[in-house]
Amino acid sequence: MIDIHSHILPGVDDGSVDMKESLNMAKKAVEAGITHLFATPHHLNEKYVNVKSDIIDRAGRLNESLQQENIPLTIHLGQEVRIHRDIFISLEKEEILTLDDNGRYLLLELPSGSVPTYTHEVIYELLLKGITPIIVHPERNKELIENHKLLFELVQEGALTQLTSGSIIGQFGKNVKSFSKKIIEHNLAHFIATDAHNIGTRGFTLQEAYETITKTYGIQRTFYFKENAEQLIKGQSPSVEKPEPFKKKILGIF
Ligand SMILES: [Fe+2]
Repeated sequence: MIDIHSHILPGVDDGSVDMKESLNMAKKAVEAGITHLFATPHHLNEKYVNVKSDIIDRAGRLNESLQQENIPLTIHLGQEVRIHRDIFISLEKEEILTLDDNGRYLLLELPSGSVPTYTHEVIYELLLKGITPIIVHPERNKELIENHKLLFELVQEGALTQLTSGSIIGQFGKNVKSFSKKIIEHNLAHFIATDAHNIGTRGFTLQEAYETITKTYGIQRTFYFKENAEQLIKGQSPSVEKPEPFKKKILGIF
């Protein structure tokens, strides 16, 4: 399996603290059935700055260590970029790293509590540059939980989304799980990834999430998500189903 979002690089953010932990995470990822893992450190999220050149360097070193230890996992390049007014300055300075550094897809993180008004502009400008933003874990964003229509709009505008496997299996609570289901049912989700930070509570639960999706929606839906991740690795476009709008609330109830 391919996992497009993780914090496996050692000592760069709130994920793995050192190489020992990174190698332990890698072993767990392999045990969980993952063969290709995107290392996507936080960037510009007020606490962490991880520019493209550093990530390329560190991912290279991790890949070397994995080979030395005979751990059959390939680390791919990536970055989780917090939406920010300076994102285009960072892009000009070549600090931004798209997935596999191929200039086509970017993991974009919103603040957990809100959706800045300039999000629409950022999506538009990125698309103009040929970069499709993949909004990570929209199901955990407070404003989107309260305003489903806004997520529909962002996808209509051309953004893709990635749900966290832990959300689907209930690790982030009932509300997040139920919103994840709604996102899938309205064709607003395009990828599932672990966003793994460690081998404990934020681990590699991709298989469990796919099993839940298969049980709920059938194997075709799981194939859809798996194939989209494969398309990314091949440098091809993932398939995007037509987003379904949320029905209007009637007496405050969906
Ligand atoms: Fe993340």
